[in-house]
Amino acid sequence: AKELPLSGKNVLITAGPTHEAIDPVRFLGNRSSGTMGFELAKSAANLGAKVTLISGPTNLKVENDRIKLIRVTSAQEMYDASHEHYKTMDVAICAAAVADYRPKQVAAEKIKKKEGDLKIELERNPDILFSLGELKQKQFLVGFALETENELENAKGKLQRKNLDAIVLNSLKDDGAGFGGTTNKITFIDKNLDIKTFALKTKPEVASDIWEEIISRIHA
Ligand code: C5P
Repeated sequence: AKELPLSGKNVLITAGPTHEAIDPVRFLGNRSSGTMGFELAKSAANLGAKVTLISGPTNLKVENDRIKLIRVTSAQEMYDASHEHYKTMDVAICAAAVADYRPKQVAAEKIKKKEGDLKIELERNPDILFSLGELKQKQFLVGFALETENELENAKGKLQRKNLDAIVLNSLKDDGAGFGGTTNKITFIDKNLDIKTFALKTKPEVASDIWEEIISRIHA
């Protein structure tokens, strides 16, 4: 059989939203569907990789022997699972929409409504991608950036601050890009600040474009 471009490579992908518990029945979350991360996982598996896909709550399923799906709920759980597997990885892509904040206290019982306002105090979640950047050895590490202003500058800043090899920028200003939809429009930026902008495409097509960019750099 012909050698595939990701044969023998271990790939870690984070996907989906995280849910941060407020009490036993409520959470803070976001509208990420997980589609982009799941497409990146499928694409990597088809290119020969062994994939560990760490996903927050989504309705998506995996039917591929080469993808090990680890389902998590909160940012802290995603952090723990990512760190447990990172060391043996060759490529890691953080595509999850991780909650930046979580309730400081999780109520043990369902919070009862009462007169007046309710205040929920929030504390910062750990930045998974940043922590993987700090621990980086052989891994080719890729992040995502969803920006609404000064997109290129903010994405480049993240690339450097988080010690990444590349960052995928999707702009909310582009129709059809971003959360929930079936299409995306990206700009791929590597650590040498080589920049490549792609047309609006379906998420499976975007996933294969991203892999083509990564593969050309890990084989260079
Ligand atoms: O800093 P910002 O949240 O915009 O960075 C987005 C990138 O960082 C994405 O790749 C996202 O998956 C990752 N991230 C993370 N853990 C967080 C916040 C963001 O891995 N707590």
